[in-house]
Formats: sequence, C-alpha cells, structure tokens
Amino acid sequence: MIDRDRLTALRADEERRFVETHPRSHDLSRRAGATLLAGVPMPWMTRWAGSFPLFVESASGARLTDVDGVEYVDLCLGDTGAMTGHALPAVADAVASRARQGITTMLPSDDAIWVSQELARRFGLPQWQFAMTATDANRFVLRFARHLTGRPRIAVMDWCYHGTVDETFATLEGDRVVPRPGLLGAPVDVAQTTAVVPFNDADALDRRLAQGDVACLLMEPALTNIGIVLPDEGYLAAVREITRRHDVLLVIDETHTLCAGPGGATAAWGLEPDLLVVGKPIAGGIPLAAYGMTAEVADRLRDEMLGHEIDVAGVGGTLTANGLSLAAARAALSTALREEDFAVAIPLAERFTAGVSGVIDRHGLPWNVQRLGCRAEYWFCPPPRNGADAAAAVDEDLEGFLHLWSLNRGVLLTPFHNMALFSPHHSEADVDVHTQVFADAVAALVG
Ligand SMILES: Cc1ncc(COP(=O)(O)O)c(C=O)c1O
Repeated sequence: MIDRDRLTALRADEERRFVETHPRSHDLSRRAGATLLAGVPMPWMTRWAGSFPLFVESASGARLTDVDGVEYVDLCLGDTGAMTGHALPAVADAVASRARQGITTMLPSDDAIWVSQELARRFGLPQWQFAMTATDANRFVLRFARHLTGRPRIAVMDWCYHGTVDETFATLEGDRVVPRPGLLGAPVDVAQTTAVVPFNDADALDRRLAQGDVACLLMEPALTNIGIVLPDEGYLAAVREITRRHDVLLVIDETHTLCAGPGGATAAWGLEPDLLVVGKPIAGGIPLAAYGMTAEVADRLRDEMLGHEIDVAGVGGTLTANGLSLAAARAALSTALREEDFAVAIPLAERFTAGVSGVIDRHGLPWNVQRLGCRAEYWFCPPPRNGADAAAAVDEDLEGFLHLWSLNRGVLLTPFHNMALFSPHHSEADVDVHTQVFADAVAALVG
C-alpha cells in the first residue's frame, strides 16, 4: 500500500528542509556532541524526527519555541510530563517561592498533606507515598508487593511500558517470557522475575496467576505505550475478580491514563486497585510521582515503615518528596488537571480523532485512531486488541516521515508514538492545523 521509494524520497526532502530551517539547533547539536554522549543529555532525545534534536528556547501553554525562533503547536507535551500545559503561572510562583524557602530538607512540609488529600479525593485510595519518578514509584510498589505476599514474580501485560523498571522489560515469544527487544544490560533474566500475559485475555491471566508465584499484576488500564489499546467490555472487571481470587495485588499505573480525567481511568471507570501509581504531570513538570494504597495494604505495611532499617529497605530516596516538588504539585493540582480542564481538553482530542479518521477514511487506509480522554493516537493497523497486534504494525520509516513532515510544518508529535496530547491551552485551530498537516502528508504519500 505504501510505496517505499516514494516514502524514502519524501523523507529525504523533509530532512533537507529540517536542516535548512534549524541552523542554530544544528550548531548546538554539533557542540553538544563534544561532551554529551550522542549529543544529548538523555538517550531518548535521539529519537526525535530529524538528524538532530531541536534545542528549546521556551515553552508556554501549548506552544514551544526552538532556538531558531520557530514556534510549534506542542502535541507531545514532554510525553505527558507537561500535560497540564507548559509553564503554569501557579507552578512557577510556587517553585520560585519554595526555592527561596529551602528546597530539600528530608522533612515533610504541609504541602505533602494537601497533595495526599487531593490524590485520595481524586483516586479513592486513602494512603499515599511519594517518589521522584513514576519509574521509582513502580519499583517501590513492586518491592512492597513481593514483601507482602512472599511471592517472587510480578505480572505485566505483553508490550507494556512502566518506566525503566527491570522486571517490566519482558514480552512473550509464544509462551516464553523473553527480554523486550532493545533492552540493555538486564541484571537478571526476565523469565525469572516476570510473568507476561496478553492484554484483553482474561483466561490467559487466570491460567498464569493460578500458578501461585505472582505477587502483583502491574498494568495500565488501557495500554498507552504501544499505541492506545482500549480494554474490552468487562475485561477490567474480570482482571479484578481474577487477581482477588488468586490473592494477587492489583497495581494500576495511571501515569499516562491520567488523561482519562482528574482521577484517571480508576475514577472514570470505577476500578478498585490495591495500589495505584501516578507520575509525570502531577507537579506541573517538576519531578514527582505518587503511589496510593488501600487501608488494608497500608495496615500491612505500617510496622515496616516504622522499622529502624527503613532507610535501607530499598524504598525512598534522599531528594524524594522534597519541598519544591510538593509545592509544585499543590500548585499544579489546584489549578490544572481538574474537571474543568478536561472539559476543554477532551473535546479537542475528539476533534483530533474525527479529523484524522476523516483523512484515513478518505484514502481507504487500513489505519486507525484511538482516543482515551485527552490523548489520541493513530496507528498503522485496524484497532489492536493487545500489545503484540499493535507492535506488529510499527512502521519506523512511515512514523519518522510523518513526524518530520509535521515538525517541519509547526506541529510536534511524541517521538516514539503517533501520540497527540491535549491541554486546555490548545485550541480548535491547533487541532485543525494538525489535521491539515496530516492530510497533506498522507496525500503526498498515497495520493
Ligand atoms: C505508564 C507509565 N508508567 C511509568 C512511566 C515512567 O515514567 P518516568 O519515565 O517519568 O519514570 C511511564 C513513562 O512513559 C509510563 O508510560
């Protein structure tokens, strides 16, 4: 269906245009190469479309401006870290004021109480702890789950992503658990630490948990990191029943599915996790994550928390729950990611989905666009039911071309997905710019 020669030629044109229009980023990327490994401060930044990353001058609301003075409609929003919109004034003020009052003391501030109360209200879980990143929060939760159950393994969904958590880089090859392609330097064979089941397959979950060696199931309520894979009707209720029946703790990772509303999919769909993790945007872009738990789980952990050796239990961190992060979270959660914010952002995502699917239909392509709250994503196959189906449709060349085409016309998409995220700072006109850019790219490719 896609003419590969045409795709290669179009991409080369876009690459030339990218280099010509970003001389300062190009120059900075050459300088960066002298002291930054691969010219970037964090490996994933090599994944942006184009032969070097954009260097950022500023970002505000739904806009990002690069050092060449080019302004973009930002649909990446820091891959969810800035889902609130960039540079929220309340967060900027809270950060400035807390920075002058002492940033990190390894003691609590009253902001921690406010934020935990707010998270309890939003997600319906009574007890909370903080971590620096969602990766950290997931690690801590897995440790607690193994400790509480005395079971060695954790279970995840095939093609999941939960941060750089060793046990979660596992996929299925037939019935075998194997390392996910791309994983570097695994400390232990994931087959020894992890059970993997396909999303939307309750029977497979039941069969696997029946083996009795799994401490917890860590899952997103909808997969968001291999396109968006929505749960079948009744699937999440079955997951809850099965995990309860096998005494397996259910951990819901809402780090991305927070896009479903102020209390994530947990509140939107009435889920009942034992533990819940949320990170990325909750402090308006300042590093902070949180994990909540039921009263029952909290009761079982309380004695451990008061133990003399809690500082070497493998949970926590020196800078974790610092005053700056919690002041930022209080400011972010009191001015963003609220019902009224989603009431603006979700219709924009709906408009995006309608626009993209109109283009797909017009060209009769076997692609689809899915939406969850204010997140939407197109994918080069019919709607997948599980991660493996979605992974089979990854097309790096096509994706790279579409991303670069968009970037060259002022629209940023998340580099490893065809994901678009909407904040209340976006406008209908922003959505329509993307729809036009996408329509022109598809027409150039298959028209
Ligand atoms: C569902 C989910 N959980 C956890 C993480 C890890 O977040 P972080 O990289 O901020 O630690 C991610 C990152 O993409 C994620 O998508």
